[in-house]
Amino acid sequence: MGFPPPLPGTVVFGIETSCDETAAAIVRRGREGEAEILADVVLSQIAEHAAFGGVVPEIAARSHLEHLPVLMRKALEIAGMEWADLNAVAVTAGPGLMGGLLVGMMSAKALALSRNLAFIAVNHLEAHALSPVLTEGLSPPYLLLLVSGGHTQLVAVEGLGHYRRYGTTIDDALGEAFDKVAKMLGLGYPGGPEVERLAAAGDPRRFALPRPMKGREELHFSFSGLKTAVRTAALSIETLTEQDKADLCASFQQAVIETLADRLQRACRKFRAEHPDLAAPAVVLAGGVAANRAIRAALAGVVEEAGFSLHAPPLAMCTDNAAMVAHAGLLHYEQGRRDLLSAPARARWPLDPNAEPAIFAGVKG
Ligand code: KG4
Ligand code: ZN
Repeated sequence: MGFPPPLPGTVVFGIETSCDETAAAIVRRGREGEAEILADVVLSQIAEHAAFGGVVPEIAARSHLEHLPVLMRKALEIAGMEWADLNAVAVTAGPGLMGGLLVGMMSAKALALSRNLAFIAVNHLEAHALSPVLTEGLSPPYLLLLVSGGHTQLVAVEGLGHYRRYGTTIDDALGEAFDKVAKMLGLGYPGGPEVERLAAAGDPRRFALPRPMKGREELHFSFSGLKTAVRTAALSIETLTEQDKADLCASFQQAVIETLADRLQRACRKFRAEHPDLAAPAVVLAGGVAANRAIRAALAGVVEEAGFSLHAPPLAMCTDNAAMVAHAGLLHYEQGRRDLLSAPARARWPLDPNAEPAIFAGVKG
């Protein structure tokens, strides 16, 4: 499988607006076949959503509309290019929040039409899945654990367009669970970093919380019951002290770690069995939750024990950005794909169309 032959000199403009980051980037295929990031600008909307403790779709869409044109110009300026220097425009077409997707899609289509560029509608999950190819030159096959505010997936990346989903969340995404726990404890948004900070000063054994899905054969995730268990534990205390909060965060994070470790261990075994000849199998950790040091350290142990190497792209490439979208678009362009301007935005767009639907899984599946 692998990748199509590189086309040196190809320049792709990338656009990302599927959630709460507005982003534009330019990626070029270099002379040696390497992918070069010529510009990569991201505007996080965190401050606009903070008061609500989560992303508000309507606010996100309006903010993309306001900021995307400015970011697109800025990307061009940083790369020192003209619109005429581009070969293609790649845009996240889904999955994500419809309002934001439409802003990105219409902007990309207008650019493609007015400048006569190839148009490529990119799957956001695929862009994440291929990001270690861009950042570390990794080659498939490899095993991906994507844990962000919108997704929680285990995917075997076999080659361009070939992904096998091992598991997904049947309810909340992991980052979402961190954000909700933070919200119920009155911590800031996004909640992940706050929960991690408090957890460092807490007792992970104080509260007996469930380890959802641990020990189960299928590789799915579930975090909604764990979140409810944290709420029940919090409500059992009349006035939460700082120490209570720290202990709750530590107990929650520990439950998450044990669940992830169990899932990843099994996934490594499965991947290994399916690729018996692979000399140096790799696990890639991506998504905002991969920033959590306690989680990273625990999973590094699991991966090492399984005989895999661990790759965690730099944080800026783990979270939402347009360079990964431009890069996925570049690979598809090199493979000869060109999408019609009638391509739709898709709130749902599974990476692996053959994956059996996970029972109860909603949009995040
Ligand atoms: O990939 P990402 O930046 O964006 C989207 O999913 O759109 O992931 C953001 C998520 C948030 O839910 C945030 O709380 C979580 O990643 N996160 C963390 C940490 N840093 C960010 N979760 C746990 N520990 C962290 N240190
Ligand atoms: Zn994402």
